[in-house]
Amino acid sequence: MQKILDEFENSQKELIHVLHRVQAKFGYLPPEAISEISRHLKITESEIYGVLTFYSAFSLEPRGKHTVTVCMGTACHVRGGPKVLEEFERRLEIEAGNTTQDKQFTLETVACLGCCAIGPVVVVDDDYHAQATISKVEPILEKYKKEKKNDQN
Ligand code: FES
Repeated sequence: MQKILDEFENSQKELIHVLHRVQAKFGYLPPEAISEISRHLKITESEIYGVLTFYSAFSLEPRGKHTVTVCMGTACHVRGGPKVLEEFERRLEIEAGNTTQDKQFTLETVACLGCCAIGPVVVVDDDYHAQATISKVEPILEKYKKEKKNDQN
């Protein structure tokens, strides 16, 4: 943590950069890290938490290795987005907004991804999966579970 903080000046204008860097390192922003950032940048913890609640990119909870985002915007909704989300929830055994116990997947929803014509849309990490259906959910998850196994070999 100190190594990360040493990369930045003791300036409040560095806050967003420091938060991104710490989240990239730990996968989320643990409370101890917030305290250290507060001391280093001379910003109160409540000011930092204020920033964190404003930017959805930051997480105060440990996140999964993979983030599955299911679009719930109107165009995706009318094409079956809610059914796709239900299938992810069923297979991952979590509700949207949560992370699986093995920390492999975090499941989220979004209001629109800006590519309504190919909906329902599911994004896993940076990969877009167009015209998602219930039957595509398992193969999508298997692809990322396989990556986990391959990483271990
Ligand atoms: S509503 Fe899903 S991409 Fe726009």
